[in-house]
Amino acid sequence: MLNKKSVDDINVKGKKVLVRCDFNVPLQDGKITDENRLVAALPTLKKLIADGGKLILCSHLGKPKGEPKPELSLAPVAARLSELLGQEVKFAADDNVVGPNAKAAADAMQDGDVILLQNTRYRAEETKNGEEFSKELASLCDVFVNDAFGTAHRAHCSNVGVTQFVDTAVVGYLMQKEIDFLGNAVNNPERPMVAILGGAKVSSKISVINNLLDKVDTLIIGGGMAYTFMKALGEEVGDSLLEADYLDYAKEMMDKAKEKGVNLLIPVDTVVADDFSNDANIKTVERGGIEAGWQGLDIGPKTRELFADALKDAKTVVWNGPMGCFEMPNFAAGTIAVAEALAEIDATTIIGGGDSAAAVNQLGFGDKMTHISTGGGASLEFLEGKELPGVAAANDK
Ligand code: 3PG
Repeated sequence: MLNKKSVDDINVKGKKVLVRCDFNVPLQDGKITDENRLVAALPTLKKLIADGGKLILCSHLGKPKGEPKPELSLAPVAARLSELLGQEVKFAADDNVVGPNAKAAADAMQDGDVILLQNTRYRAEETKNGEEFSKELASLCDVFVNDAFGTAHRAHCSNVGVTQFVDTAVVGYLMQKEIDFLGNAVNNPERPMVAILGGAKVSSKISVINNLLDKVDTLIIGGGMAYTFMKALGEEVGDSLLEADYLDYAKEMMDKAKEKGVNLLIPVDTVVADDFSNDANIKTVERGGIEAGWQGLDIGPKTRELFADALKDAKTVVWNGPMGCFEMPNFAAGTIAVAEALAEIDATTIIGGGDSAAAVNQLGFGDKMTHISTGGGASLEFLEGKELPGVAAANDK
């Protein structure tokens, strides 16, 4: 259990509550294409509204790099959030975030009102955790609530700096839920515990692999990162993704798995293509059989069976990273097979955010999983065993 004060430990009646949410949602032509992060924020917002707080919401969106970028305005989020909450979310459109609109709107608020500030990353100080902007944010509120799990691995003004200038800084329900699910899965799992890691790069998951090898019974490695492991075993990988600098690391991890008695599985066959395209020529080859001119873009049918079999008796599964280039239908079968296997087993299934969450949702398995994290980088850093600065900054119980 997370040992931080939460929205259940405070009285917000009549108080101005600054709520840091992660509304960093994908946008296309001004339309939100995945609103999971908005929906996930609702329980905390509804609770604070019901308790009579005056809610001032803030978030970053994309990487505007310290200047106003109209295409990264949070205006579409305010509009959609108004619909989801069934009440107006007034958008304070100040390019300097804490400007005249925000101040006037905050002063005019009634209990239960909600306003949303402009993208916090319009301010250059935000990502530097600068004091000035942290103070400005704090000056708007009596109480600070951090519910932005997706941003908890960052130490920025709006989730960390601001806490130094408020008396009360607590976490919201989403933050609590994420840490409880991920924390239990990793630190107190019902066994057997299986972790599935995929995605393009070994380099982005070095510490995760290392940390999880101390925790799991089985570690499954698929996706682009598997080719570095194959190469480390002396096998040809053709034109597949390869991180030559990580061959020694891959060997070390395979040795560590042996030492710890962890069953480490890598693909036994691969769907290869002669181009990075859904229309490329495609064939399936056995381990070691990827020729020059061909690249692995998905796990093969024998691997799908092998991985599904390894998941059959699992009681806790953590999955981060797709098994292949699932965005192209011809290379989605591996990721679908793993999602299907997870949907069928009687286990706690936790899906890391980012690509894996997108894969599970897009492929239609979202409601079959125990928990889909709203944090990509944050869930990864949590799985690495790191303390998340956004969580650490909240008041202890
Ligand atoms: C995310 O989408 O992972 C979070 O919102 C953090 O965004 P960032 O990687 O731009 O800091």
